[in-house]
Amino acid sequence: MHIVKEYTTFKDKELPTFEDIYGMKDLKALIKASVLLPFQKPEIYEDLKIEPGCKILFFGAPGCGKTFTSLATAGEMKARVVQFTPSDTWGSSRTEPEKAVSNLFSYARQTFPSVILMDEAESLLINRDKYKDAPWAQRVLLEVLNQLDDSTSENETLILMASTNAPWLIDPAALRHGRFDRIIFIPPPDRSAREQLIKAQFERAEFGDSELERILDETVSLSVADLVGGYKRALTNQLQAQIANGEEPDSAKVAVSADSYMEAIKTYPSSASDWLKNTTQRIDEVAEEFVSKVSEYLKNPT
Ligand SMILES: Nc1ncnc2c1ncn2[C@@H]1O[C@H](COP(=O)(O)OP(=O)(O)OP(=O)(O)O)[C@@H](O)[C@H]1O
Ligand SMILES: [Mg+2]
Repeated sequence: MHIVKEYTTFKDKELPTFEDIYGMKDLKALIKASVLLPFQKPEIYEDLKIEPGCKILFFGAPGCGKTFTSLATAGEMKARVVQFTPSDTWGSSRTEPEKAVSNLFSYARQTFPSVILMDEAESLLINRDKYKDAPWAQRVLLEVLNQLDDSTSENETLILMASTNAPWLIDPAALRHGRFDRIIFIPPPDRSAREQLIKAQFERAEFGDSELERILDETVSLSVADLVGGYKRALTNQLQAQIANGEEPDSAKVAVSADSYMEAIKTYPSSASDWLKNTTQRIDEVAEEFVSKVSEYLKNPT
């Protein structure tokens, strides 16, 4: 079954778990209640007479943890990750794209516990009206909708975690009630998540308490990827300076000050800030419900 890529399981220690996620306390609780609990304590769902199985769509700025949270959910469940990408689906089988989709869903159902990871969901659940000249894309959409609706008992084990930066490009039928159990905005890391990240990962940072506070003030609405990228640039800037001075590069002499970190942050545009700004400038109707969540966040980002 060549369309399915597997990242596999806990044995390899490849998958992150919730411990690796900074912040997002409420989201973790939501996933615990709606995705993990039915597998850990099935009697609770039986008692409440609700079906297990869960389909979640994350939307938000790049680099804020949509894919990472999906992988960590699989990590918590010690599940297999079945990745669903546009190139796998279309590239390998343009003549029979719906077959590729149904194979993938069957595979995920049969290899319990599995999490279907659908990144770039807007390219798989493509808006039919806007892309009339892409009949194969429409066939993919219809087959995915069909699979999401599948009310056989096999869907009880189906965990689908989809992500997108452009939910307004998704076909409205996919967003209608019942297709996804939850549609969730993933905001940039809040102040305490940024602090956790800096303390855990920036080993060569030499920030005093007040400098750390200043950095936290000046990094509101940056993504984890932006913050980590800035740190990496600050480190390589120093290696670059050593080389430019004719010195032998020496990692022992590398330390990141608050100023050098902020300089490295500012020399690169933040993909998350750009996304937030552009999103709130959208005025089309489809985008409205997504835009309102982002605007709500921007009223008081922490
Ligand atoms: N909340 C978080 N806690 C810990 N690490 C995170 C968090 N969010 C993101 N990361 C780190 O940043 C990297 C990028 O995050 P991720 O790939 O999940 O972004 P994304 O939201 O899926 O972005 P894109 O829209 O570009 O796909 C991850 O591999 C992870 O290392
Ligand atoms: Mg992603």
